[in-house]
Amino acid sequence: MSTLLTGISELRTVSELGTIKDAALLMDGGVIEWVGVAAGAPAGADDTVDLGGRAVLPGWVDSHTHMVFDGDRAAEFEARMAGESYAAGGIAVTMEATRSASTERLHQLVAERVAAGRAGGTTTFETKTGYGLNVASEAEAARVAASHVDDVTFLGAHLVPPGADAEEYVTEVVGPMLDAVKDHVQWIDVFCERGAFTEEQSRRVLEAGKNAGLGVRVHGNQLGEGPGVRLAVEMGAASVDHVNYLSDADIELLAGSDTVATLLPACDLSTREQLAPGRALIDAGATVAIASNLNPGTSFTSSMNFCVTTAVLQQRLTLDEAIAAATTGGAKALRRHNVGAGKDPQGRPAKGTLVPGAAADLHVLDAASAINLAYRPGMPITWQTWVGGEKVYSA
Ligand code: NIG
Repeated sequence: MSTLLTGISELRTVSELGTIKDAALLMDGGVIEWVGVAAGAPAGADDTVDLGGRAVLPGWVDSHTHMVFDGDRAAEFEARMAGESYAAGGIAVTMEATRSASTERLHQLVAERVAAGRAGGTTTFETKTGYGLNVASEAEAARVAASHVDDVTFLGAHLVPPGADAEEYVTEVVGPMLDAVKDHVQWIDVFCERGAFTEEQSRRVLEAGKNAGLGVRVHGNQLGEGPGVRLAVEMGAASVDHVNYLSDADIELLAGSDTVATLLPACDLSTREQLAPGRALIDAGATVAIASNLNPGTSFTSSMNFCVTTAVLQQRLTLDEAIAAATTGGAKALRRHNVGAGKDPQGRPAKGTLVPGAAADLHVLDAASAINLAYRPGMPITWQTWVGGEKVYSA
């Protein structure tokens, strides 16, 4: 069943095709067949939908979330706003709440979080385990996540659970825990930070994941300069996330690598850490992604619109750069994008770009131009979200 979308004031392809004014888009079987100026649209579509002069961009690719959790940490947040600083130890509070939740409740919570993300224009979701921190709960989190999102990351190495010995815990993570989750996840991740895991412990975790056939990602340089970026590049990680505290050498390393630097602006604001140096990373030639980092400790939001707006207003990215970071940037961080192609490196429809062959994942704004994302910050702007050619949200 083919559908022709017309009435597109500006179509941001986030590709070498650039932004097309007065555009149309033809999709069939979940993928894009054609994009161009409406006057040249192919005839014969099964259905035509007029978007009424609205801007269309690729759906956001949210490449970093922690959706499998119960409870909240509002009191911790309030204390932070009164001057406390963020520390990794708060993860243990969410671990208790998550271990106590039924499987059914975790499914319901993740489904609600995906729906909220879609209502804000997100069409591709990664999410992590990491609030179970024992074999049974991490395996449950991986299974729950796998039934709701595109990519699942094993983050057993999020925190050493209270009372456990760090080395023994890492042995558990790389042994029975990895065995229990590996059929449900695509990625392995580690919180390589003071208060969490050391460089050596992190390397052990990532090597074990790699040996099990998983792709590698790293939480690094969030709370201070450290080994995270260096380790991520050394291990060929698809992405290193947070990157708030970078040395010149870290920036140079990222610029010379295939490792995406993922900015998490909502987290930076919620933890009152300095904003990650997105401008400097882009100027140096690094590939940058923007993600929400939805989690109860440091970023209780799935709003990619908010993250993109913050990147423009506060991190001094141009609108084009911020949109690219939240679409193709996220897709590159998940290895779902090949520059200039409609297919990803595995031959699947590419994400985060609107070119023939790519996934028909669209974000329709209730505005004629995408600059309204930053020009009218915080205003309701997502009008429709389409995933694989199906409308999944309408305002
Ligand atoms: O990405 N930094 C580590 N993990 C999460 C926060 C976890 C928490 O505090 O619950 C993050 O910010």
